[in-house]
Amino acid sequence: MKFVIKNGTLVLNGGEIKADLLVDGGKIAGIAPRIDENCKTFDASGKYVLPGLIDMHVHLREPGFEGKEDIQSGAAAAVKGGVTQLCCMPNTDPVCDNAVVVRYIKSRAEEVNLCKIHPVGAITKGEKGESLSDIGKMKAAGAVALSDDGKSVMNSYIMRLAMEYASDFGLKCLCHCEDVNLVDGGVVNESRNSTVSGLKGSPRAAEDIMIAREIALSESLGIPVHICHVSTYSGVEIIRSAKARGVKVTAETCPHYFTLTDDVTLTYDTFTKVNPPLREKRDVEEIIRGLFDGTIDCIATDHAPHSLKDKQTEYNLAAFGISGLETSLALGYTYLVKTGKLTLSRLMEKMSLNPAKILGLKGGELKEGAPADIVIADFGKPYKIDGSKFLSKGKNTPFNGFEVYGRAEYTFVDGDLKYKM
Ligand code: DOR
Repeated sequence: MKFVIKNGTLVLNGGEIKADLLVDGGKIAGIAPRIDENCKTFDASGKYVLPGLIDMHVHLREPGFEGKEDIQSGAAAAVKGGVTQLCCMPNTDPVCDNAVVVRYIKSRAEEVNLCKIHPVGAITKGEKGESLSDIGKMKAAGAVALSDDGKSVMNSYIMRLAMEYASDFGLKCLCHCEDVNLVDGGVVNESRNSTVSGLKGSPRAAEDIMIAREIALSESLGIPVHICHVSTYSGVEIIRSAKARGVKVTAETCPHYFTLTDDVTLTYDTFTKVNPPLREKRDVEEIIRGLFDGTIDCIATDHAPHSLKDKQTEYNLAAFGISGLETSLALGYTYLVKTGKLTLSRLMEKMSLNPAKILGLKGGELKEGAPADIVIADFGKPYKIDGSKFLSKGKNTPFNGFEVYGRAEYTFVDGDLKYKM
């Protein structure tokens, strides 16, 4: 399809310009103050034209947990959220620890044909932390990275081996950082609030110890590593000082860690239960500082859809996770851009360009020759988040009723319209 997006404000790497954008053959074919072509046009007056979001941390649940989400529903939620590429985590059933499951996910993604879906292979067989999975075969089948997300590889010797093998195959380890012994069944952040609620606390140190270990391994081997869903102020500081020494570490956080504190867990609402847990004001502030100063490279959702049955139970028993694909753009805009903490261009760097760079994916910016993964977004009209309207099967959001700004009105993938509001 050939078309022009007219009169929009384009968010480019480094700033915004008012311009028209021509798409032809699935690629961005031109950007100029005025493009008059005899083809279909989309009027983006008063709207922003963004590179499609690249969400490097998503749980699609298929195969095995299709009651929570499947590739069709997850991809539909993604394009509604302005996400044109995503990485799906391997804690499925069977675990994505071999080439067969990688190929299955890729073929389902092609059938669904909504957004680009990149499987992440497990670091260890069955995510058991004991022996390495079929790394080379998964890479050949199309895995873009490795992770035992949901868990840390607790054995440091195995983690070191994993980093070495991963690097030999040109893959990065995306590390879920959690010392399971120290967490010891904690379900919320260990703080004054956990004492008040009586819910078992999980200390920051449980996350920080593993962040520090992954950095120590990365530094000693000279192999890059990526830290998932950073939630602690102290974790941000560990990563900042490692980066200052030249360690090849990158990091992501999630919208819930720059918007919410553990005060919301005092309601016992299980939609606030997430791993790592929501922390305190000091953590939220440091995470925002880390986003600003570049310590935290990316914003990913850790989209963790669960059925209501998995959530409508007592706090200790409820599943961990927040359904995030349909709220990330709005939360990023409302809490970071509208508040003056980041420019829109820097937000897009965190949500699109940097994930592409970290994973070596095509896309992530609006420039001639790039894939036409494009979002026309409105940031002007406020609206209230309503999880019951999500396309995701996971309606589990702690943001119900929050008034936010920012949503995708059109989402294009390789120049094809995949979502229209
Ligand atoms: O809250 C979470 N849910 N954190 C994780 O690391 C895993 C995820 C899930 O799979 O539900």
